Amino acid sequence: TTVTQATAKAPKTLTLPDAQTVTEVKHWTDRLFSFRVTRPASLRFRSGEFVMIGLMQTDAKTGKQKPLLRAYSIASPSWDDELEFYSIKVQDGPLTSRLQHIRPGDEIILRPKPVGTLVHDALLPGRRLWFFATGTGIAPFASLLRDPQTYADYDEVILTHTCREAGELQYGADLIENIRSDELLAELIGEGFHKKLRYYPTTTREQSPKMGRITDLMRSGEVFSDLGVAPLSPETDRAMVCGNLAFNLEIKQILEDCGLHEGANSDPREYVVEKAFLD
Ligand code: A2P
Repeated sequence: TTVTQATAKAPKTLTLPDAQTVTEVKHWTDRLFSFRVTRPASLRFRSGEFVMIGLMQTDAKTGKQKPLLRAYSIASPSWDDELEFYSIKVQDGPLTSRLQHIRPGDEIILRPKPVGTLVHDALLPGRRLWFFATGTGIAPFASLLRDPQTYADYDEVILTHTCREAGELQYGADLIENIRSDELLAELIGEGFHKKLRYYPTTTREQSPKMGRITDLMRSGEVFSDLGVAPLSPETDRAMVCGNLAFNLEIKQILEDCGLHEGANSDPREYVVEKAFLD
């Protein structure tokens, strides 16, 4: 991982509308990076929500500057004084082809209007909470996993993360390690047999300790026997899903077949889904 960190907070020039200053950039692989920015003093959000962020671009027709924005899940918890984002790099992607080059001190645009369905309010109370992620879909869960409410509300929290290659799991692996060594969160999670947080990473195109798509591992029952938990049931299990479109659709079907129903802010049920951002 290459980390570029601001040594001193750059002076804010506020040249952009809703400008925030980049404080740290980490490059995880040639396809993935994460970055942190200053947080607007007035911004309140619920862990799991997303905001629109981006850069200015020149309109090809008029030659005028206008914002180019995309939805990004906030990966940091709501108590953090900075905001963290986790992004793919698409070489011909309109935004990420440029965003991947940001450095500490640079400004990005951040519209301070958080929204989203991957929030505790959209789920009915339950015993076990599953976070199912592929690729950068882990971002909203990076927020929720660092939110003490997650461990207050559930007896058990399980994060599954499926990526093509082993290197793409590093952001999540570091996240889990940091949570387990955080004094406050570690106390909420507990130890040994009573540990509340479980982590189940898998890869599909490169060798790693656990291979396969999580959807296949659920259908075969392997994930449940590996973790020593009962298959999903609407009485005990709640789920949040965030990944690519095909994955979201497939896992929705599996959850529905288990008797879980999709919830929303206005109508909490047993699971919620959101599409991970792809430039
Ligand atoms: P696979 O390598 O078999 O396509 P991507 O980088 O394309 O967004 O994919 C991220 C991860 O999601 C990959 O490991 C990919 O597996 C997996 N994936 C893609 N489609 C599905 C699906 N329909 N169900 C489960 N996993 C999927």
